[in-house]
Amino acid sequence: MLVRLKIRRYQPETSEEPYYQSFQVDVPEKATVLDSLLEVRDYLDGTLNLRASCRSAICGSCGMRINGVSRLACKTLVVDVAPRGGEITIEPLANLPVIKDLVADMDPFWRKWREVTPWLVTDGEEEKPVREHLMSNKLAIYLTQFAGCIACGVCYSACPIVAIDDEYIGPAAMAKALRYSYDPRDHGKRQRLARLAEEQGLWRCHTIFSCAEQCPKRVNPTEAIQQLKKMVILARLGLAR
Ligand code: SF4
Ligand code: FES
Repeated sequence: MLVRLKIRRYQPETSEEPYYQSFQVDVPEKATVLDSLLEVRDYLDGTLNLRASCRSAICGSCGMRINGVSRLACKTLVVDVAPRGGEITIEPLANLPVIKDLVADMDPFWRKWREVTPWLVTDGEEEKPVREHLMSNKLAIYLTQFAGCIACGVCYSACPIVAIDDEYIGPAAMAKALRYSYDPRDHGKRQRLARLAEEQGLWRCHTIFSCAEQCPKRVNPTEAIQQLKKMVILARLGLAR
């Protein structure tokens, strides 16, 4: 099928301002938007910059805005966003600086991710546990959703609060914070909640659900944020277990 890609270009060596450039490509019926972009890069314009690797919605590299919606290009079929051919507008992830063309600078995303201590914090005395840590099946299944995050930044791009406050910690970091704070092996909950209870932490979320709606891995950061709010409130009331 013939499809026209209207791509936001930014080539700082040759132009200070971004601009749009259109390319027409002939791609198979089942082609993804990423396939179409690679067709452009491989056969029409080798200067097109984009980030991609696995082509299977696993590595989290190919987040971008497609017709204004933040998505993974490798998980988006051309036929779904341009059912009768036509034009697809492709732009880099929002709420992040752009390095070149479709390549967003993920540094702000990773800086906030690190602020929630996204790993298991062990208790010094438990460094050599004498028995296994137990987790109920129910909790393990619940946490699978949050552990499935591939750090693609799609939710960060979709978040209207990050758009107006670039210091807001954002949905992905909070989904990760919940994943570890609920883990019975972890001892980092207190430090995570202290960070998240700050001004640009979880209270800034307006429960708009954009992150959950656009996450390609069906993670629900909005739910994680509400659970974290509950944990903070219970801790303040001295009711935390
Ligand atoms: S929560 Fe979803 S959208 Fe956000 S970074 Fe993780 S996988 Fe991507
Ligand atoms: S190329 Fe890996 S997630 Fe799209």
